[in-house]
Amino acid sequence: IPVAPFVIAVFGATGDLSRRKLLPALFHRDIDGQLPDDAAIVGVSRRPFTDEAFRSFARQALDDHIPAAELVPEYVERFLGRLSYIAADAGREEGWSDLADRMKAAGERIKVYYLATAPELFGPICEKLGKYGLADEARVVIEKPIGKNLASALKLNEEIGRIFPEDRVYRIDHYLGKETVQNLMALRFANALFEPLWNSAHIDHVQITVAEALGVEERAGYYDTAGAMRDMVQNHMLQLLCLVAMEPPSSLDADAVRDEKLKVLRALKPIDEQNFGQLTVRGQYRAGASAGGAVPGYLEELGSSRSQTETFVALKAEVGNWRWAGVPFYLRTGKRLASRVSEIVVEFKPVPHSVFDANVGPISPNRLVIRLQPDEGVKLWLMIKDPGPGGIRLTHVPLDMSFAKAFKVRNPDAYERLILDVVRGNQTLFMRRDEVQAAWEWVDPILNAWRNAKEPPRPYTAGTWGPSAAIALIERDGRTWLEDGA
Ligand code: BG6
Repeated sequence: IPVAPFVIAVFGATGDLSRRKLLPALFHRDIDGQLPDDAAIVGVSRRPFTDEAFRSFARQALDDHIPAAELVPEYVERFLGRLSYIAADAGREEGWSDLADRMKAAGERIKVYYLATAPELFGPICEKLGKYGLADEARVVIEKPIGKNLASALKLNEEIGRIFPEDRVYRIDHYLGKETVQNLMALRFANALFEPLWNSAHIDHVQITVAEALGVEERAGYYDTAGAMRDMVQNHMLQLLCLVAMEPPSSLDADAVRDEKLKVLRALKPIDEQNFGQLTVRGQYRAGASAGGAVPGYLEELGSSRSQTETFVALKAEVGNWRWAGVPFYLRTGKRLASRVSEIVVEFKPVPHSVFDANVGPISPNRLVIRLQPDEGVKLWLMIKDPGPGGIRLTHVPLDMSFAKAFKVRNPDAYERLILDVVRGNQTLFMRRDEVQAAWEWVDPILNAWRNAKEPPRPYTAGTWGPSAAIALIERDGRTWLEDGA
């Protein structure tokens, strides 16, 4: 079903996000028949492009990011016909009245401003949108990073909030747009099976891994100012933790869901100067091997010998409330790890008593594994009798649901869902102002403790699972990092 007619102005239209994600996502929704005839996309950036030049830029983006079989000429033409371009700079006046005219000409259509720019420009662009009368009734989409710490996030939210009321601000965390992440809610709240066990009486611990095989490559400039904690933990990892730990919301209404996530963030036990040494590990990759080839270390990629920015974080978090008291949430994320895998493992407590002889084999705990990417799926590990003669032997096997095998549909990119949710006016999968702030409130003391300790990040070889201290972090507790739940 197509959404209502809209016009979306993409700031930073000639940048990386627009090229890799936004234009391909809009094109996909167009070929799926979800864009109405009069949906339009206005590219905005500093470059002195004409409409034609922007269309060629977009054509190239589609060629680079969409499989050739899907680039049916008729669809490509229709999509390119939706595009136009305006050159404007947040620091100057030129171009803004043209943009205002263009948006006014769009009449009653829903108006969206997507800020796919450097975060320093979010405030100035909003100010100009206000000044030129463009903000009325319109929605604004903000990409991360939202600030570098609590103070800068407060300031930024304030600048945006001066022009756009909260119910028209859409803060993207693209992890929330992933099919498998939304499936977490389906799994928890559309099955009666798990919820009664979803607490400290039955769950031993939770692991959340977001591992990447890639290094920082050409993003080293940005990445060096952020590090894994700001780039991944403050947003994506904490959002995943919230979806696992939150109370059932009364509905999927945006505020009902976000209220519950906020309570989780506020219940996270503080990690600070006192305990960061036991609860966190930060690392930085050195040269090593990835996908069968030699790869440089972080400092070589950055072209500096000095940086102490972490490319890996492991930590042990705890949600201090009745449901979760005493259940560790082990989180780890990093660049240049052994493979690309994101998954959540929920490990249940062991059986209280074994009726089997010791020689039938160990009884492994049940584990629910939610594989976010790649090989999206859900596995529930159970103990069964190993079939065959010779008495009872036990073995651990998964009930295995693979999305690719079960459903023969294309796995849409997170941005496809999120952009159209903005047009639909559905904020459920977007972060509210207080959520972003609560996440920084928890992260800031960890960053401060690291900074004050002045310890360099621990080195790890590219293509491994991170520094050995990360393994020690979980093994000290008699547990181990799992891959695929095994
Ligand atoms: C981004 C981070 O938000 O998420 C990147 O800035 C990271 O550093 C990316 O690579 C990971 O996203 P995905 O969808 O590839 O798992």
